[in-house]
Amino acid sequence: MRQELINAIQLPIHEEYVKEQWWLVGQLELIGEKKLTELIQSAISAREKAYKPYSEYPVGASVLCESGEIYTSPNTEVVTYTQTGHAEHNSINKAISEGEGQETRKFIKALVVCHDGDSQPCGACRQEILEHCDNAVVISVNPEGQLQSITSAKLLLPHVFTPKHLGIE
Ligand code: THU
Ligand code: ZN
Repeated sequence: MRQELINAIQLPIHEEYVKEQWWLVGQLELIGEKKLTELIQSAISAREKAYKPYSEYPVGASVLCESGEIYTSPNTEVVTYTQTGHAEHNSINKAISEGEGQETRKFIKALVVCHDGDSQPCGACRQEILEHCDNAVVISVNPEGQLQSITSAKLLLPHVFTPKHLGIE
């Protein structure tokens, strides 16, 4: 096989994962246990308000902004399905509607999602999270508030398309 093809293969690099692990540890320390508990609790409460008559799959999300504010939302379904609002999308838009994003598009520090099972934000929500940060802590908890996973937006969406690719920023 031509060397050119082999060179073009992109693989995850171990050192990058280690760097990301320490970035996450640092961010968790910066945010602090008190704020993290508040953020997790808000996602649990948001889930309890889910409008999900079709899927019966309630989801809650809470966004911690660089400003320190927290915005929350559940998923909101529509019978036509495609108009359904994902909890992550809804909570990000709630933050924007309250003025976050006016000074900088990068206002997300962390996001907690609460649901049953071990799922993570869907692909569309991952793109939307990265619209508003260079990276963010993404935490998944179950309805009892037990941690399911802690990862980063970057790890959830490698090779994300950003304004940089349009020559913006
Ligand atoms: N859902 C979310 O709220 N976030 C996601 O990223 C995945 C899916 C919601 C949409 C729908 O109301 C239900 O979960 C089942 O797909
Ligand atoms: Zn989604």
